[in-house]
Amino acid sequence: MATLTIDACGLRKRYGSRIAVRDLTLQVGRGEAFGFLGPNGAGKSTSIKMLLGLVRPTGGSALLLGQPVGTREARARIGFLPEHFRFYDWLSATELLLFHGRLCGLKEDVLRRRVPRLLERVGLGTQSSKAIRSFSKGMMQRVGLAQAMINDPEILFLDEPTSGLDPAGRKLVRDVIREQRDRGATVFLNSHLLGEVEQSCDRVAFIREGRIVGMYRMGAWQGERTEVEIKASHIEPSALERLAGMACDLRLEGQLLRLSLDGQDRLPGVIRCLVESGAEIFSVIPQRVSLEDLFLKMMGPDPGL
Ligand SMILES: Nc1ncnc2c1ncn2[C@@H]1O[C@H](COP(=O)(O)OP(=O)(O)OP(=O)(O)O)[C@@H](O)[C@H]1O
Ligand SMILES: [Mg+2]
Repeated sequence: MATLTIDACGLRKRYGSRIAVRDLTLQVGRGEAFGFLGPNGAGKSTSIKMLLGLVRPTGGSALLLGQPVGTREARARIGFLPEHFRFYDWLSATELLLFHGRLCGLKEDVLRRRVPRLLERVGLGTQSSKAIRSFSKGMMQRVGLAQAMINDPEILFLDEPTSGLDPAGRKLVRDVIREQRDRGATVFLNSHLLGEVEQSCDRVAFIREGRIVGMYRMGAWQGERTEVEIKASHIEPSALERLAGMACDLRLEGQLLRLSLDGQDRLPGVIRCLVESGAEIFSVIPQRVSLEDLFLKMMGPDPGL
């Protein structure tokens, strides 16, 4: 990994008797899009707020862009789209971006060029002079996204950026994430839309009850767990009994046998077992394990809140 932009070690947050985040230890590199996934209440937003210096950790430490979190210097180089935000709604979209740009210390001539370009980018070019109180939820979300990018941030934190967005808006977020990553920025993304995360992130971490329970490079889990669909005839019950010791989630429907293996290297043994028992095999098709499949496996049954 080239240069680290986020380097967190043992961050912890307790609210009264409730521990929101137990141990946040992770490192994210420059130009990386990092997805942070977990069920409701897992501690995702609290983690982001600790990294931004908006919530004081109960323990642990973190460096952002090589500096302790919360310093003015680091904050000026970071963009943030919060999960719940309220903007001054009597301002127009242009005025709001100018205001946020000035807070970041940007010069007027830079802002005059950048604000129209950003509003155009998020699809609000024709709405730029309207008061944002008249905006729909999705339009507000788009302004929020533009606001997060006003300072050409080196790290962009997006907490549920696709909330309320239509399909074109979701694609916009995906494209923006790619553009930011391609220009070398780090993107830290909280999202429940796993299909979106799968398309736009390089790496993902799963958080459950305030603790990271898994971290993967995108798609790297495919080799770890393999779902296979085998089309075969003459599958004897005795063969199924033997397979039950080698695979799990065994299901036979007509000539279709579906099973789940701990790794691809178990597949030849399964095929051998079937052939030796007299089965005729027509096809063996490994199934893709989606990020959602992995999420549900890692999180287990919904415990409720
Ligand atoms: N300001 C607060 N005071 C007390 N408890 C809090 C506070 N903020 C968060 N919590 C608690 O901390 C836990 C983690 O909350 P957090 O908002 O980080 O979850 P999340 O993963 O972002 O969930 P969601 O997917 O619903 O946005 C929850 O149990 C929540 O009730
Ligand atoms: Mg949240």
